[in-house]
Amino acid sequence: MQTIRSVKKMQAVAWKIAAGKMKSALVPTMGALHDGHLTLIKRARKAADIVIVSVFVNPAQFGPKEDFKRYPRDEKGDLKKIKKAGGNIVFMPKAVEIYPADYETYVSVEKMSGVLEGVVRPGHFRGVTTIVSKLFNITRPDVAVFGMKDYQQAIVIKKMTRDMGYPVEIIIAPTVREEDGLAMSSRNRYLDEIGRWEAVCLFYALRTAQEMVKAGIFDTRLITREMQAVILATSPSAQIDYIAFTDKETLTTVKKVVKNTVCSLAVRLHGVRLIDNMKLK
Ligand code: PAJ
Repeated sequence: MQTIRSVKKMQAVAWKIAAGKMKSALVPTMGALHDGHLTLIKRARKAADIVIVSVFVNPAQFGPKEDFKRYPRDEKGDLKKIKKAGGNIVFMPKAVEIYPADYETYVSVEKMSGVLEGVVRPGHFRGVTTIVSKLFNITRPDVAVFGMKDYQQAIVIKKMTRDMGYPVEIIIAPTVREEDGLAMSSRNRYLDEIGRWEAVCLFYALRTAQEMVKAGIFDTRLITREMQAVILATSPSAQIDYIAFTDKETLTTVKKVVKNTVCSLAVRLHGVRLIDNMKLK
């Protein structure tokens, strides 16, 4: 496994991979890797000859009051895990090279970036699509793998890829969960003991929605009410940012659950903001 820290070197290696007619897959991450990330690397292995994993805590996607400074970093542990999961190249650029002092170019998916997460985190997806676009330019992958855990992110990136004409196939891999159902996330380590217990409320709420749909209830108002009750029964101090029902591909809101409806939600509990989602039908 090769670790590359310079943009120029990564570009040269990417050029060689393409010239050698080898297929490459990119797995972009912000590090502090868990089994969710490692599943993406394994998925990438199946899709390509060379797997490139990028590790970069991207300042452009954090709001001024968000957790950029305290975001977990574990370079040594990450390298070990990537090697074990089958990564061939780790791209760990320095922030000054990605965003030099005079940096001023951004890529933005206009409408899709302004709903759901975009309402609470203005500018977040602009930061995401800018870094992913830069990573595509630097690593020139044939395939890129993202997690369903960040469903809106995956859809926004898919749209950016299509709109910008990148010849990159986007694969969306299923969410990996802890034994109790909590979706794995680097931010779960911010939870205290009670918070960790209560964090399962997002999964319970989504499962409730799924069961209601199975029982023939498709009205999203009824489902939302029940989900709110489940969340507050499990975590009385929880604050729900949103519970949304959208089409899987277009992110448009639906009033009745139909085929390809995804339910997503964001909840703050014990000082930590968690997101999750599930396809309902
Ligand atoms: P990060 O949060 O590190 O996540 C990297 C990738 O892992 C994303 O595609 C995310 O959806 C996926 N992932 C996270 N938790 C997962 C889980 N439990 N199951 C399956 N996949 C999971 O998302 C980002 O970084 C950044 O925004 C990035 C795309 C790297 C741009 O900076």
